[in-house]
Amino acid sequence: MLIALLRHGIIFPYACQSGVCGACKCKLTKGRVNLDVYSDAALNPAEVQQGLILACRAYLLSDVTIRKLDR
Ligand code: FES
Repeated sequence: MLIALLRHGIIFPYACQSGVCGACKCKLTKGRVNLDVYSDAALNPAEVQQGLILACRAYLLSDVTIRKLDR
């Protein structure tokens, strides 16, 4: 998902692109994604329960709507 965002010129926070830093963490508000392997330090189980995802690890399974986190 991160690559698609960047290719469309959307300014989105990221760093490692490998699921380690958490910089690309965002809220999935609609749709479904599959998350590739990532570190719990970047996205912990409680955050997953809240619907947070890592854009760099997310593969779209449907159209989605996301929201950047206030940082
Ligand atoms: S860019 Fe580091 S976890 Fe996504």
